[in-house]
Amino acid sequence: MDLGVFIPIANNGWLISKASPQYNTSYALNRDVTLLAEKYGFEFALSMVKLRGFGGETEFWDHCLESFTLMAAIAAVTQRIKLYASSAVLTLPPAIAARMASTIDSIAPGRFGINIVSGWAEAEYAQMGLWPGKEHYERRYQYSTEYVTIMKQLWETGTSDLKGDYFQMADCKLSPRPSVMPTIVSAGQSDVGMAFAAEHADYSFCLGEGVNTPTKCSATIGRLLSAVAKTGRKVGAYALFMVIADETDEAAQAKWEAYKAGKDLAALSWLGDQAAADDRATAGSTAQSISNPASAVNFNMGTIVGSYASVARMLDQLEPLEGLAGVMLTFDDFIVGMENFGQRIQPLMASRGHVAAA
Ligand SMILES: Cc1cc2nc3c(=O)[nH]c(=O)nc-3n(C[C@H](O)[C@H](O)[C@H](O)COP(=O)(O)O)c2cc1C
Repeated sequence: MDLGVFIPIANNGWLISKASPQYNTSYALNRDVTLLAEKYGFEFALSMVKLRGFGGETEFWDHCLESFTLMAAIAAVTQRIKLYASSAVLTLPPAIAARMASTIDSIAPGRFGINIVSGWAEAEYAQMGLWPGKEHYERRYQYSTEYVTIMKQLWETGTSDLKGDYFQMADCKLSPRPSVMPTIVSAGQSDVGMAFAAEHADYSFCLGEGVNTPTKCSATIGRLLSAVAKTGRKVGAYALFMVIADETDEAAQAKWEAYKAGKDLAALSWLGDQAAADDRATAGSTAQSISNPASAVNFNMGTIVGSYASVARMLDQLEPLEGLAGVMLTFDDFIVGMENFGQRIQPLMASRGHVAAA
């Protein structure tokens, strides 16, 4: 089971709360989190793209670095870990993203990949005049399909001549080409998002579900497997979880309760409005799932709360799930969380025994 970390490229990570650790983002923080991940044998680190925060008292995600430039800098100071930057496809032409990937491959050969973000929050793009209109909700995966096709053509052959509905290439060139094809990942939760992953991605992220119910994500993984059965490609599922750990179950639970009690209502209301604008959203889609009031304080991300031993036991339950290739983690406090994970949790995990033994 691969392990990854969703590094805190924006302030306060993934807790929309006044009671969780409050911190700004910086290169140094993200570098240090990634170096800890590398030290503890994690397979990958991923940074998101987020271009507009949610406001509120905590100024949630109002402060966010740029994903490719951050990962390029981290590429230069790491040795082994795989790195993913996220492309918001409406903002970066595919030939430019492909060339940035070649550049990062030249810094860290074979260690780079791109997370394709089709876009779900209108305000992020409208503020730059880059929102195509409501029809984008419906067409975003067709747009992303052309986008990925162009990048792959450029990486594979150095040329793209694709004439699509959204992009017209005219003997477009790319050199140098990357030493290895960059990995493509995506994170759509809707059926059409999963069909896109099945056709074009190497890995697809699934939102874990519930609190201390790690295997609940098997339903979402099942939807991905159905999509993959139609394309016959190999696409691994990566499940996303937040870890809140402490010496005892009670101490960890107390932190979680405090985070929930301190939720930043104004920031959450912004998130709810953005999600509601997606009138194409279906039951499993991102817009529906992240804003569900049940646990909106952390985007309804699957949450693992407990002592170090309990967290290890629950994460081990994920390994046997059919189709699961790995897990990407977030923490309430990334530096403390990564250290505790590496020192106290991972050594207890049977599914990570190979790392402990190395
Ligand atoms: C692990 C993970 C990473 C994601 N990264 C980003 C991101 O960097 N930027 C963003 O705007 N959305 C991000 N998303 C949201 C997805 O890209 C989102 O699912 C998609 O844009 C909407 O698709 P859907 O309606 O098919 O779920 C992420 C979601 C997950 C689970």
